[in-house]
Amino acid sequence: MTTAELSADGSYARVVGSGGDRIFGYLKRYKWPYLAGFVALLGATVLALLPPLVVNWAVDDIDRTIRGVGGDIGAAGLLRYAALIAAIALAEGVLRYFSRWVVSGSSRRIEYGLREDLANHLLRLDQGFYVQARTGDLMSRLTNDLQAVRDFLGPTVVDITRSIVILVAGFAFMWAIDLRLTLIAFAYLPVVILLMAYFETNIEKRFFEVQDQIAELTERSQENISGIRAIKAYAQEDAEIRTFARENEEMRRRSMRLGKYEAALLPSMIVLTQGGTLLVLWFGGHDVVDGRISLGDFTQFFLILTILSSQLMAVGWIVASAQLGVVAIRRINEIFRTTSAIADGPHTTSHLRGDVEFQGVTVRFGAAEPILRDVSLRIAAGSTVAIVGATGQGKTTLVNLVPRLLDPVEGSVLVDGVDVREYRLDDLRQQVGFVPQESFLFSESLRENVSYGRQDASDEDYQGALDISQLSNDLQQLTQGLDTVIGERGMTLSGGQKQRAAIARALLKDPPVLILDDALSHVDTHTEEEILRRLRTYMRGRTTILIAHRTSTLRSADRIVVLEDGAIVEQGSHADLIARDGVYARIYREQLALESRSEDVDARLVEREHAPDTPADGEGGAP
Ligand SMILES: Nc1ncnc2c1ncn2[C@@H]1O[C@H](COP(=O)(O)OP(=O)(O)OP(=O)(O)O)[C@@H](O)[C@H]1O
Ligand SMILES: [Mg+2]
Repeated sequence: MTTAELSADGSYARVVGSGGDRIFGYLKRYKWPYLAGFVALLGATVLALLPPLVVNWAVDDIDRTIRGVGGDIGAAGLLRYAALIAAIALAEGVLRYFSRWVVSGSSRRIEYGLREDLANHLLRLDQGFYVQARTGDLMSRLTNDLQAVRDFLGPTVVDITRSIVILVAGFAFMWAIDLRLTLIAFAYLPVVILLMAYFETNIEKRFFEVQDQIAELTERSQENISGIRAIKAYAQEDAEIRTFARENEEMRRRSMRLGKYEAALLPSMIVLTQGGTLLVLWFGGHDVVDGRISLGDFTQFFLILTILSSQLMAVGWIVASAQLGVVAIRRINEIFRTTSAIADGPHTTSHLRGDVEFQGVTVRFGAAEPILRDVSLRIAAGSTVAIVGATGQGKTTLVNLVPRLLDPVEGSVLVDGVDVREYRLDDLRQQVGFVPQESFLFSESLRENVSYGRQDASDEDYQGALDISQLSNDLQQLTQGLDTVIGERGMTLSGGQKQRAAIARALLKDPPVLILDDALSHVDTHTEEEILRRLRTYMRGRTTILIAHRTSTLRSADRIVVLEDGAIVEQGSHADLIARDGVYARIYREQLALESRSEDVDARLVEREHAPDTPADGEGGAP
């Protein structure tokens, strides 16, 4: 429905769907529990205002008894009032528990559903999104923001409702006793609100400063951990420690600033509200003495004022937490509204022949010059094409188009004569074995890593994939063979082993189209040739696209395509291109010179890597 579009300034923009408010949808789903919770809450809050009324009756009764004007309260009378208060408190407690339970329960269910939705949504977003997104930011949306939303939809909405009901009902009760006194008590309210607003804005500002700094610290910690090898290789530990200390110091400064306001909030509120109490005591006291209101009414008035004041003190926090919740909802909805620039097509397929064709493909990132310009290339099913070109010429970009890791701005890519955008993504990608330039392994066993694209593989399939990728030779070096757990990002595997694991993973999918993006660069030439030899047999009748620099790989291809500056400048067989003595011939000669210079090193490398493996080599078995 939505696709990547070039905005006016040419930047890579995505159409933001009106995807709607996911959270609102959830609230609708849970409307009945919420309604029940709020009805119970209303009851509980009104009940909380009733004990002062009972005290009112009791005090008047006591007063009459003391003054001997028709009252005789006695122990039984006092007990009756006490029992009434206990009963009200009990009922209030039950209702309050019920309302919190229902509302909090719903908010937790919403959090659970949202987390799942968000994770699913994130996994479906295209690569372009992740190029722009910051990991730390996404992590904090998935954790902190979700939590803030849960708190908002749970305790915070309960508190907000309770505050409103107490204010309104309290006002009504007080008015029923005496309007003048009520106005005196509430005359104070604007001052309280002003003070609260002052603290509110300050606390909020400081709070966001702290949140920003937390994000910064998270990002730094995360990069320090995942980049530890680079840090150590460049002996940057001390520098990183200093940077971290600086950020941490900033964190301390900011949270102290926040603490200053937080610490001042409650005392200021107490002092202010006590001021209100003072006024009511002064005017109300006179009213009682002058007989305008009864002692009981005065007591009830006072008690309600106390309940009201303490609720007022909490309002600051409630508003702050509500604001946090609203911001979090916005941040989460932002992700939900981001749609994948690469969407499913209608065409389902379970088997492709592997005909690949680029038709006038142009790729451009933002306003920059195009990376690929009007590239047309046909790769017949069953053939092997090698793509060469200097670094940064667009080789990776070109092959990324086939499994739709990227869509072209102009032109199209066809597989078996059908635009790749027409296929269901899963179907297309299942049929394309793709070994990216940077292989990524998960922190799981080697077996799980290899079977990543296909869990139902038989032992034979495994053996085949391991043999072709020559990984079978390395297994005995690993403590538990295939079941060896590979550290995060394959820390325990060598660069060449990682690449070959990635190749085995792609082969296990048994794909009609195989793309190797410089996937043999860390493998020694001897092993490389062995892999290529086996691949040739295996890939008979399938399409292979190899991005390569090595002469051995180049010679193995049926056809060679030379990319320069985003365009195809030469193509043909190795022999043809050499005879032509153009760009390819130059690249080839340079590469040959490079390889002969490093031959010595290479030979030693081969010796080292293969010496212990020689017996297994025979076992590995050529097909
Ligand atoms: N997401 C992106 N946004 C902006 N520019 C990009 C993006 N991806 C790639 N490029 C640019 O496109 C150009 C081609 O990159 P590409 O990865 O296709 O080169 P390559 O031919 O594979 O190079 P190498 O041999 O070094 O792997 C580079 O200049 C790169 O900086
Ligand atoms: Mg590349």
